[in-house]
Amino acid sequence: MQTNIARSLLNLKKNLSNLKKSQKIGLVPTMGCIHNGHLELIKKCKKLKYFTVVSIFVNPAQFNNQKDLKKYPSQEKKDIEILKKNDVDLVFFPKTKQMYPLGYSTYIKEINFSDILCGKYRKNHFSGVLTIVLKLFLIVKPYAAFFGEKDFQQLFLIKKMVKDFNLGVKIIGIPTVRDSNGLALSSRNKLLNARGLEIAKQIYLNIKKIRNLDYKYTKDLELYLKKELKKSGLNNIEYIEIRETNSLKHPKSIIRGKTLRIFIAVHVEGVRLIDNCKLN
Ligand code: PAF
Repeated sequence: MQTNIARSLLNLKKNLSNLKKSQKIGLVPTMGCIHNGHLELIKKCKKLKYFTVVSIFVNPAQFNNQKDLKKYPSQEKKDIEILKKNDVDLVFFPKTKQMYPLGYSTYIKEINFSDILCGKYRKNHFSGVLTIVLKLFLIVKPYAAFFGEKDFQQLFLIKKMVKDFNLGVKIIGIPTVRDSNGLALSSRNKLLNARGLEIAKQIYLNIKKIRNLDYKYTKDLELYLKKELKKSGLNNIEYIEIRETNSLKHPKSIIRGKTLRIFIAVHVEGVRLIDNCKLN
């Protein structure tokens, strides 16, 4: 199987125009630095026998902080090698000036769930995410698209956008892939040194410890986890919140049987890491 590379919209269209009408397209949107988490999305897409398109685009519209954008890791040559090895059909590398040409001014704004959790700390982040994902859907016209549950709020908002705009794209969420220490895989992990990785692994170790504790109120359990994380060397905690999986509501009490998730964002040596996990 050959992996084609498209670096322009025209080239992408040419590649897709050769497909049989019956061939379903599966899209895996990424910002590159391909890791095993991305490979799980690709594996699932290939298993379903979709024509697998992986997009690699570090989307400036979803970064509220220019420093963060500048230091976002990239490894184009290595990514192409990995994607070839994994029999991806087509890799799409759009250029910023094609996605956001001079004078570009249209952005998606979801109004109920975009300013909580990560959105509270990253202004307009989800507007940028939804805008680029919608653009990719309109350009690639996938039957299905694959996203990791590590970015649970992102997955939630993309599902919401597809429903609200009747986009008719099947959204497939894939469970978080973790390294042997439980650290959720993320391209940002590449920015951590050995000490940072040692501290970062405490995130999941501590979540696992508190998952089944018998607390009555969410605030108390959140506070307890915060203390434990601090004891483990995680001093820069952005948020710890327990929310309902299906509604992202923040309940007062921990009612067993309700599917609750714990959401976390921390900074480790200047690198922002997020994780989430079922509570019960
Ligand atoms: O999850 C990501 O890597 C990005 O937010 C996405 C979905 C590719 C949009 O830029």
